[in-house]
Amino acid sequence: MSLFDQLVVKTLPLVPKPIVRYFSKRYIAGEHLPEAVRVVRALNEKKFIATMDVLGESVTERNLAINMLGECKEVLNTITEEKLDSNLSIKLTQLGLDIDYDFTLNNVREIVEQARSLDNFVRIDMEDSKTTDRTIDIYKTLRQEYPNVGLAVQSYLRRTVDDVGELLKEKSNFRVCKGIYIEPEKIAYKSRKEINDSFIKLIEMIFEADSYVGIATHDDDLITESYRLIEKYDKKPDQYEFQVLLGVRPELRDQILQDGHRMRIYVPFGTHWYQYSIRRLQENPKMAGMVFKSFFTRRNSK
Ligand code: FDA
Repeated sequence: MSLFDQLVVKTLPLVPKPIVRYFSKRYIAGEHLPEAVRVVRALNEKKFIATMDVLGESVTERNLAINMLGECKEVLNTITEEKLDSNLSIKLTQLGLDIDYDFTLNNVREIVEQARSLDNFVRIDMEDSKTTDRTIDIYKTLRQEYPNVGLAVQSYLRRTVDDVGELLKEKSNFRVCKGIYIEPEKIAYKSRKEINDSFIKLIEMIFEADSYVGIATHDDDLITESYRLIEKYDKKPDQYEFQVLLGVRPELRDQILQDGHRMRIYVPFGTHWYQYSIRRLQENPKMAGMVFKSFFTRRNSK
């Protein structure tokens, strides 16, 4: 990324919300559940599977975490009622991790229990490094109780290969992604090569241990390398899946599906769209540049 792009990306949070909303529309299914249902149904009709996510994070009040719990359970019920092919992704800080550990564990347990009763699955997203230990602990506790829970892990964290090695001592279910939060070099790889090497090492470790993995990336090199590992380990399409984010490189998801792999799309929706939108725009300097241009054009025309 050029220095100019880095500057644009860093200052994105200064842009007014309506402009951010306009440019991030492609990444979000809508503000309300019926809109997300329509998006997932359309994806299912094209043979994509989905994971639905109620946007929201860093909740600091118990009643808001309880509301979020209710929303997650409603999504699970709706998936069943509407016969959608989708599971649910959750963030622990939306369910109280910044408030109290046991409170969060019980909230997540309720969601995973409900998913099990509906024959569905819950993926725990991985957030910033302040939450890593507690997120892994909650996953470890719940996988002893339920088979239908999985964890996202981030290849940019130096610790992840060890974490995954430890977790693989028991049957596990992972999503491997690069990681999106800004972390210090002391704990996180910064070069693309190191992040990608770690990503591929993780996929290989999980294949070797015969656990399930969601390969979550839009990076052509990682996809090519994953294809090679799928062949090397003779994995069948029900032993792994690819995952992409809604609105990111749609031509890529079509190609992966055509190549005969399971392809899951992360479908976020909800009124708390701001943080997620900023993260997506920061990953896309071209779009971030357009956001900025639009901001300054408006200011100058006032
Ligand atoms: P990379 O960023 O190198 O992108 C590869 C290509 O895709 C580039 O050509 C790039 O331009 C394009 N691209 C990427 N993002 C784009 C965007 N927003 N708009 C347009 N083009 C874009 N992270 C995390 O910390 N915790 C988590 O739980 C998750 N969960 C998760 C689920 C799923 C299904 C996915 C796909 C990703 C995540 N992530 C995540 C995010 C992940 O860590 C990472 O930030 C993004 O996937 C971008 O990294 P890539 O591997 O795609 O590579």
